[in-house]
Amino acid sequence: MGTCLGLDVGTTGAKAVLINGDGQVLSTATTEYPFATPHPLWAEQDPEVWWDATCQSFGQVLAQSGTAARQVAAVGLTGQMHGLVLLDQTGKVLRPCIMWNDQRTGEQCAAITEAMGLDNLLRITGNPALTGFTAPKILWVRDNEPKVYQRIAHILLPKDYIRYRLTGEFATDVSDASGMLLLDVGQRRWSPEIMRELKIPAEWLPAVHESPELTGKVTASAAADAGLAAGTPVVAGGGDQAAGAVGTGTVAQGILSVVLGTSGVVFAHSDHYRVEEQGRLHAFCHAVPGSWHLMGVTLAAGGSFRWYRDVLGSAEIQDAVSKGADPYEVLIEGAKAAPEGSEGLLFLPYLSGERTPYPDPYARGGFIGLSNRHGKGHLTRAVLEGITYSLKDCVGLMEAAGVPINEVRASGGGAKSPFWRQLMADIFNLEIITLDATDGAPFGAALLAAVGSGQFASVEEACAATIHIADRMEPEAESVGIYQDYYPIYQQLYSALKEINHTISHTVEAAQKKDLR
Ligand code: XUL
Repeated sequence: MGTCLGLDVGTTGAKAVLINGDGQVLSTATTEYPFATPHPLWAEQDPEVWWDATCQSFGQVLAQSGTAARQVAAVGLTGQMHGLVLLDQTGKVLRPCIMWNDQRTGEQCAAITEAMGLDNLLRITGNPALTGFTAPKILWVRDNEPKVYQRIAHILLPKDYIRYRLTGEFATDVSDASGMLLLDVGQRRWSPEIMRELKIPAEWLPAVHESPELTGKVTASAAADAGLAAGTPVVAGGGDQAAGAVGTGTVAQGILSVVLGTSGVVFAHSDHYRVEEQGRLHAFCHAVPGSWHLMGVTLAAGGSFRWYRDVLGSAEIQDAVSKGADPYEVLIEGAKAAPEGSEGLLFLPYLSGERTPYPDPYARGGFIGLSNRHGKGHLTRAVLEGITYSLKDCVGLMEAAGVPINEVRASGGGAKSPFWRQLMADIFNLEIITLDATDGAPFGAALLAAVGSGQFASVEEACAATIHIADRMEPEAESVGIYQDYYPIYQQLYSALKEINHTISHTVEAAQKKDLR
């Protein structure tokens, strides 16, 4: 059985994962890169930087494991979704990629919703027009950079730019394509209706494949740069969330995955195309051929905890340095001393605006309910509880949309903490499972490559053979009861504070504009 290579063109780095024929990880390598925020709300990255980082990570992962390039049976690609990469007729990049976390397209989203009608948009694409998605970014370039717009010959997503560099092919997969707002998600093909309405020529878009399908072979010149063998097959792969779900075995109805990274993602497999009635959950094609998924995103999950550590955790950081411990663990020790519900202190994690259940770039975070009984441990506990309430909002929408939930699989940095896993079990009132597979999206991409190169008959078979349960955590009845009292209060806070937070955000924006003048 052959070795397979998965690559994640991520937000902060390119991570390569090499697996053997049994799906065991032989080695991993990450090459980091920054992204630029040239204006408030903007986020951009140079695709050339992804290519250099990819070549470096490929070289490292092969060298570390002593694997010869010709032993690689296939490569699978995954990456940050929704990014807009524009190429001219000669394949030259026209401007930096406008990334998934860029929020500049409010006007274009309103125009798309106006032109298509929300119901129509939800029916076809499974989603409302959100600022991070790709189609509004194309219209932003049309409206603001007409000279660039005139030269567009190809539109690609980030991982598909790497595919183009590796194979010379313009191709994508259904799961990543779903995040462009140009796909008929139910039919798994580009939507002629949307392209007509937005005046986007079909020839700009890449060919769409199911995730394990072969899309091309590594060219001789790419092989020389990337340290791979010419002729190595490259499979379609998936967007980072769908490939990550493959990497946690979230490939059957009844399984829900919760990924606690910088953002928190709640992801459910679905055997049929279903759309949340107000479009509060993303409805995308899954990387498992012929299936779909629903997804809710808390934009600042681990991101809120990191902010809290950096801004308010200097004492714990110092303590951790002196003990040789992790500052997060020191903070969590403090949180354990505070009672469930943090004696009425609630935290709103909308530090980067929010997506689910409130698609609102102007939402803001906050501590509500402070009293002089509250100490540091309460604050820390409230942060973790607030993030977890936000994830519960996503779980609740899944339940209301009729998604069966028999099993919750937790992964990502936050899920390493037994305390946080217990918090999830108690707040969700569901058993929480962790797995022996921890490499997420690039591991999932490598499994897709293993399926595409014929080593497993299906994605489901690849997951069953390679991913196993490591730990289970049950909800504790008393804690469940306490959170059932506090969660409804948390749920009221967004609406209660919405207008005030919008006014604050607009006031800050106006002040920043004045400063820029
Ligand atoms: C998914 C999403 C993120 C990005 C970056 O909708 O926005 O997962 O793909 O990781």
